[in-house]
Amino acid sequence: MRNKVVVLDFGSTTCQQVAQRIRDLGIISEVVDHRISAKEIAADTSIKALVLSGSPKSVYWPETYNADTAIYTLGLPILGICYGMQLLARDFGGEVKAAKVAEQGDRQVFITQSNRLNQGFKAKMDFCMRHNDEVTRLPKGFINWAHTVDCPNAAMADESRNIYAVQFHPEVSSDDNAELFFSNFLFNICKLETERDMATFAANQISKIQQKVQDKKVLCAISGGVDSSVVAALLHKAIGDNLLCMFVDHGLLRTGEAATVMQTFNDNWGFNVIKVDAAARFLDKLRGVSEPEEKRKIIGHEFIKVFEEEVKKFTDIAFLAQGTIFPDIIESGTLDNKTVKTHHNVGGLPEALNFELIEPLKYLYKNEVRALGIQLGLPESLVNRQPFPGPGLAVRCLGEVTKVKLEILKAADMIVREEIEEADIKEAWQYFAVLPDIKSVGVNAGERSYGQTVIVRAVESNNAMAATWVKIPYEVLKRISTRITTEVAGVNRVVYDITDKPPGTIEWE
Ligand code: XMP
Repeated sequence: MRNKVVVLDFGSTTCQQVAQRIRDLGIISEVVDHRISAKEIAADTSIKALVLSGSPKSVYWPETYNADTAIYTLGLPILGICYGMQLLARDFGGEVKAAKVAEQGDRQVFITQSNRLNQGFKAKMDFCMRHNDEVTRLPKGFINWAHTVDCPNAAMADESRNIYAVQFHPEVSSDDNAELFFSNFLFNICKLETERDMATFAANQISKIQQKVQDKKVLCAISGGVDSSVVAALLHKAIGDNLLCMFVDHGLLRTGEAATVMQTFNDNWGFNVIKVDAAARFLDKLRGVSEPEEKRKIIGHEFIKVFEEEVKKFTDIAFLAQGTIFPDIIESGTLDNKTVKTHHNVGGLPEALNFELIEPLKYLYKNEVRALGIQLGLPESLVNRQPFPGPGLAVRCLGEVTKVKLEILKAADMIVREEIEEADIKEAWQYFAVLPDIKSVGVNAGERSYGQTVIVRAVESNNAMAATWVKIPYEVLKRISTRITTEVAGVNRVVYDITDKPPGTIEWE
């Protein structure tokens, strides 16, 4: 079992970012509900530290979010951030009140005493502050080690108990400061070790797969996405031609994608790939359906059906390899754990199929999967491919999916991709076109037109939990708009989506 750090969620929008910062340093981190009991934590011996994160609440409200105070007696290192600091102060007998100045935004934090958390800090460091309350009296046993102009108790620590807390938000501060902060906590205080050696990981997995599979055959569904590609590459290294890859083309891929998958895996690398051309089937099932969740469900079910039918044609397959990764199996554990969208992945296939499963990536995070891909010799373009939803363009073709609408969307999407790549906009983490199925009046060569609108979406993110829209230079937007309205028949208007996530989601459906 690999060591992990759990982040208690008290409702702050940045609690996932805390976990991501920790993962970025190669340590597993999970977000859990703040109501988790000390007993549950103690029962999971892989938990090596706790982070109490922020909250929109006040610790002195009668109805507020509390932690089980018995967690303080478990002997685990604890890091409090913002509300987490205030909670620690309150629970250990200090005092929290409304701040005289509610600081919002970057502030200079003056470091007054050194400790294991602030190793390498300069005397003044910029960190982000976002608080209405503050600790007005430290609990017994804690010392103050930082302040800002307006906040006297910007940080506290009880080093004997390994409890550290800060009023500021290192997770949203500049990358260097954040990295230093979290690496001090993880490596100086918690004494955790990273497990980033992908060469060893690959070698171990290859020999495990060889022992398990011996001379039997393994089937691996590939989608052209990173996870399934890395699994296929790992298996191919381990068992060569005993790996059979299946690529179900549901017709909802972007222009050129299906061909690239076949060319890369089959032609270039000599993998044994069977392509199932199921585009017509999917379109047929989607006819007349416009409700987003219904569309997603139909695609998910149909995918499994096609896969099952194809698999039946082979009698000698013993194992099914899947690109399940760690985020797919851990509970996100956020406070409001409702399904926003039913995610569809190749990873959701098996149960009905009765194969023995091989899931070599199931304890890896995305960044580690990418590192493994590079280690295995996959090209950067594939490994760093932008995320693409399992239901494909169906979630970007709003309302009913038709062949004509898909053609328009594919053509517009290719232009968006080409122009953003040409302009080398590094912060654009995911970018695409959406067809909202809205018609508007326009004019072309003096003639009235009544055509489709294309939405351009480009977001910056590191884990898709939150995203901000990218400030694409106007000249690039202009080129995209001109090209789409002249090159894509049936489109006379282009708009740019300037919505962050939250409140929007990255995809439109
Ligand atoms: P949303 O739209 O929820 O998307 O902000 C978050 C990220 O997930 C991708 N996405 C999916 N990925 N299967 C996937 O594998 C899906 O069904 C799916 N739906 C959305 C989306 O592209 C974004 O990166």
